[in-house]
Amino acid sequence: MNILILGSGGREHALAWAVMQNPKCDKLIVAPGNAGIAQIADCATLDIDSGGAVVSFAEENAIDFVIIGPEAPLAAGVADRLREAGILVFGPSEAAARLEASKSFTKEVCDVAKAPTAGYGHFTDAEAAKAYIRAEGAPIVVKADGLAAGKGVIMAFDEQTALDAIDDMFGGAFGSAGAEVVIEEFMEGEEASLFVLCDGENILSIGSAQDHKRVGEGDTGLNTGGMGAYSPAPVLSAEIEARSMEEIIKPTMKVMADRGMPYQGVLYAGLMIKDGQPRLVEYNVRFGDPECQVLMMRLGGQALDLMQAAAESRLGEAQVNWADDHAITVVMAANGYPGSYEKGSEIKGLSALPEDSSNMVFHAGTKAEDGKVLATGGRVLNVTARGESLQEARDRAYAMVDAVDWPGGFFRRDIGWRALD
Ligand code: AMP
Ligand code: GLY
Repeated sequence: MNILILGSGGREHALAWAVMQNPKCDKLIVAPGNAGIAQIADCATLDIDSGGAVVSFAEENAIDFVIIGPEAPLAAGVADRLREAGILVFGPSEAAARLEASKSFTKEVCDVAKAPTAGYGHFTDAEAAKAYIRAEGAPIVVKADGLAAGKGVIMAFDEQTALDAIDDMFGGAFGSAGAEVVIEEFMEGEEASLFVLCDGENILSIGSAQDHKRVGEGDTGLNTGGMGAYSPAPVLSAEIEARSMEEIIKPTMKVMADRGMPYQGVLYAGLMIKDGQPRLVEYNVRFGDPECQVLMMRLGGQALDLMQAAAESRLGEAQVNWADDHAITVVMAANGYPGSYEKGSEIKGLSALPEDSSNMVFHAGTKAEDGKVLATGGRVLNVTARGESLQEARDRAYAMVDAVDWPGGFFRRDIGWRALD
């Protein structure tokens, strides 16, 4: 099978690594890829948000299966164009991708599905939004409706911050993503993510994870794309997972199918858990990054079979062969991230690190130049390990982190703390 993966982050390196372990994979191309991916697969330059360009590339390269990593090509309808061309694809349609691309759409679907989530109001007018904030009071959460690269959510602990956020959003701070806002009740609890595969009809859990969104240890400081993750997340117990499936995910998938937009691909449910009750924070229509890295480390080569079964509407007969294991990933980011950061610093010591089924450094923002590995992005490396316990996995991961020689980068020393403390 010839496979094309779209994307260039740590998530796509982990997907490529898992796919390569499956003997079914004859050829793997990743577009655009990065320096780490280039060590295990061919990388190609391609406009991945253009359905036409992706279809032509897939046809020219005799691609049998396309796996779409990030949300932008999904929201741009790349999966639809591939399906129309008769090419097998893992990823939802543009219509179904609105579960991530529009927060008001998701809230409305949750209303119909009766899925537990935060109370909310939806506004296209600044004065009406402000009146709602004044009536509800703080804490309150203000969200730009559209895709805003993870930056469109303002948690306001006082009323003025929320009112200012409305001025910013309607003033164009988030471009067209902020022309509509959703204002939500602030939910307390512990967050965790549940990942399920869907084929339009059947749903299969492929595990839980917990991300670390804040830049600083103890979950302090600015929000980031994620500074580390581990799987499984003990807060998402078997009982809470079952409730999340019955109360949130299955009813949502049914509403999507009833509306003629059956969901196919991976669905990432961000959940807030309090007193044994899961509530939906958000859906994403792709794997999380860095959560994908720990899921792939645990699934290995079977991930390809599972994604293919989802794409071919055969999930009803699929099952996950679980090992009783734990995985953790520590993100190494460029100094300054998530603010402005320097680019081009050299990373040394990577070639001496182990690379096997329990230890991998997945690359995000890197490039290879003159035999050196250079940092090019904010999040740069995902140092990932597996073990029989979370503690064992964590010790392995930090031993690798400590062997990386990169003065231009930093990391959090406490990934996994909620599960270990
Ligand atoms: P979102 O992009 O909707 O996932 O929001 C980003 C982050 O903001 C989430 O992962 C939560 O940590 C936080 N968040 C979003 N909505 C709420 C809410 N209603 N209550 C509490 N925290 C929230
Ligand atoms: N790590 C959070 C995300 O991928 O959205």
